[in-house]
Amino acid sequence: MPVRTFRTPHPRRSRRALGALAASATAAVVAAATLLPAGQAGAVAGSLRTLAEAKGVYFGTAIGQGDLNNAALTTVAGAQFGMLTPTNEMKWETVEPSPGGFDFGPGDRIVAFGQAHAMKLRGHTLVWHSQLPAWMNNLPGSQVQAAMRNHIIATAGHYKGKLYSWDVVNEPFNENGTFRDDPFHRAMGSGYVADALRTAKAADPGAKLYLNDYNIEGLNAKSDAMYDLAKSLRSQGVPLDGVGFQAHFVVGQVPSSLKANLERFTALGLEVAITELDDRMQLPPDSGKLAQQARDYASVVTTCLAVRGCVGLTQWDVGDADSWIPGTFPGEGAGTMYDNAYQPKPAYHASVDALGGSASNPSPSPTPTPTPTPNPTDGVACAVTAEPNAWNTGLTENVTVTNSGSRAVNGWALSFTLPAGQTITGAWNAAVVPAAGRVTARSLGYNGTIAPGGSVSFGFQASHTGNAGPAGQFSLNGVACSAA
Ligand code: G3I
Repeated sequence: MPVRTFRTPHPRRSRRALGALAASATAAVVAAATLLPAGQAGAVAGSLRTLAEAKGVYFGTAIGQGDLNNAALTTVAGAQFGMLTPTNEMKWETVEPSPGGFDFGPGDRIVAFGQAHAMKLRGHTLVWHSQLPAWMNNLPGSQVQAAMRNHIIATAGHYKGKLYSWDVVNEPFNENGTFRDDPFHRAMGSGYVADALRTAKAADPGAKLYLNDYNIEGLNAKSDAMYDLAKSLRSQGVPLDGVGFQAHFVVGQVPSSLKANLERFTALGLEVAITELDDRMQLPPDSGKLAQQARDYASVVTTCLAVRGCVGLTQWDVGDADSWIPGTFPGEGAGTMYDNAYQPKPAYHASVDALGGSASNPSPSPTPTPTPTPNPTDGVACAVTAEPNAWNTGLTENVTVTNSGSRAVNGWALSFTLPAGQTITGAWNAAVVPAAGRVTARSLGYNGTIAPGGSVSFGFQASHTGNAGPAGQFSLNGVACSAA
């Protein structure tokens, strides 16, 4: 992963200056996008996307199929964001409205928009208590497991190879940390989560598999429950790659424990992501609320950048005009970085600043994304050597990973399995967590890039209880490696 640097806070600008910057920034973005071939518009220099990617993270948004007809919305989405989540188009009621009757048309349209703009894609969501069709809500308990597996296999199978990740289970918990009473829990108990993850892994082995929830951003009973679940799943070897923190915030209420909370999840060897960020307020907005919102966005962006293993942020919806908030919280809204006319708000500039850009130079030039990567694992292949040198109770092991694929790897995570009884006590040239079992070594700032044909080496010290054999089952950024 490229090195993450931190810039000093930008000097405060006046509200008038911010407004002028906002208008000129959008004008420039629209102008930039219209210079590009139809359907091929890409991120512009200085955008949220390019700045985030330069820091090794993504910045995404969520759109629905109705949004595809909105030129102002799609222009901002294509120019500013590098990850895309469908708001409703991959949910059960849309995908499988009748038993075994699948409709992937709406989801496919969102995927096509994302691919045309070289965006990564998040699948949302396979198993969720909400937006289930009536037939699924009314299904006898004895048939729920088969229906769930069938839905996952068909849906994740349809999008196999196209998605960065799936929110396999969405919102499993009540606020007090107990499991939600939904058709899945009623039929299978808490084991439905592991069952869903294993089924999704079989259907699309390359997608990162997530659990996703709201009000788990700070340290509280609900995030404790998610942590306990994630820890238990990891210890059982259930294929869980990440936890998504929706981050539907209220201005001034970003939890101060956000960073500590994210870090306890990454310490489990999981990646984390901010998946549905918005920051609502009582309408109408005023300068004080917008300034607080800007501080809130900046703090969330800064926190993700500061947490190794926070892979990116997604804002839920593109602008205030298409946000879900007013429909759910009457009298509230204005939660996004773009106002009702898709003009950037102070929160946009604060996010740019937090990403190391400069909102005082908001005239992006039209630079199409140089190398579209519709699937982050396309072209990745690897070979690994692992050589332990052991003594009676300990060992050191040198690992060399060679990029035998066709494109450069920018930011690597090499996962491997340690023999039973080995516990890592130190490492060099990589950050390695957890200490035992299935572990992941991540690149440091200076060795994140492996050119095609190139290699990097790192190593670790470990204690052992008798088995001093080499680590095995290596995979680079989710792709299995061969022995060199
Ligand atoms: O499509 C119908 C339309 O035919 C009908 O005329 C209209 C009348 O209300 O409703 C339309 O459906 C709406 C649907 O969005 C599509 O716009 C539903 O009423 C509405 O409830 C639904 O809201 C979605 C909500 O999830 C449902 O829970 C929001 O768009 C969507 O943004 C929101 O997303 C969720 C995430 O999936 C999970 N986390 C929370 C987040 C915000 O609630």
